[in-house]
Amino acid sequence: MDFPTDFIRFLTSATRVAVLTGAGVSQESGLRTFRDAQTGLWAQYKPEDLASPEAFASDPKLVWDWYAWRREAIKGVRPNAGHYALVEMEHRIPEFTLITQNVDGLHRFAGSQNVLELHGNIQKVRCSNCGKFAEMWDEYTEQVPQCLICGGLLRPDVVWFGESLPRAELESAVEAARSCQLFFSIGTSGVVQPAASLAHAARNKGSVVVEINAEPTPLTPKVDFSFHGKSGSILPELVKAVWRI
Ligand code: APR
Repeated sequence: MDFPTDFIRFLTSATRVAVLTGAGVSQESGLRTFRDAQTGLWAQYKPEDLASPEAFASDPKLVWDWYAWRREAIKGVRPNAGHYALVEMEHRIPEFTLITQNVDGLHRFAGSQNVLELHGNIQKVRCSNCGKFAEMWDEYTEQVPQCLICGGLLRPDVVWFGESLPRAELESAVEAARSCQLFFSIGTSGVVQPAASLAHAARNKGSVVVEINAEPTPLTPKVDFSFHGKSGSILPELVKAVWRI
């Protein structure tokens, strides 16, 4: 892919970069994006109908089993070239913040250090009552596993629809967006708030905004540079063009 010379020059000299990723970055690892159709037993459900406090309250076992199925699906999954390219970028840019909406843990698995998991992490499980994190649990049991401390039902440590995002992570993400020179939006449809506002926060502070996505999104008309295609191909090519690796 040919990158505009001014873009390459700007990224080469940038010292403060923020990146927002979505499910598209994990797609080439074999994980369906959030809005891809569900498959198998879960085809009859929309994620939005399962990932909510109301769904967990009305049928905790159904919701628990869906996340157990998703953890199982992630077990054999590995980061792709796009994840590793972002690790390389973090090594070369003094202030690099990776903000992700993904709950699959693949950025950390690939080696990214400064990761803000805005929507939590599906591999972590906590008590829905006292909030204590569980060290271990039975994935497939008749009943939803219970907290060893208070007996409350265990739940995945992810942000459900209608729930607020973890405050510390969100504040750090907003700070990174507002102070960066360059903001990347990668593999996200840019429709879910407040993550979708980060690119605008960056732009309002004068940052150069770049989108890398398989298809146009509502953000596309407002960015400075837009690259349509697979992040697993574009990101390694970008790293090669800038740092010759
Ligand atoms: N490379 C780049 N982009 C891709 C790729 C790829 N290989 N494959 C898919 N995409 C793009 C799609 O075109 C789509 O625009 O990634 C985007 C994924 O969008 P969504 O499925 O909406 O996922 P995401 O943006 O992460 O959803 C945000 O919404 O429902 C909530 O909590 C959920 O974190 C999720 C949030």
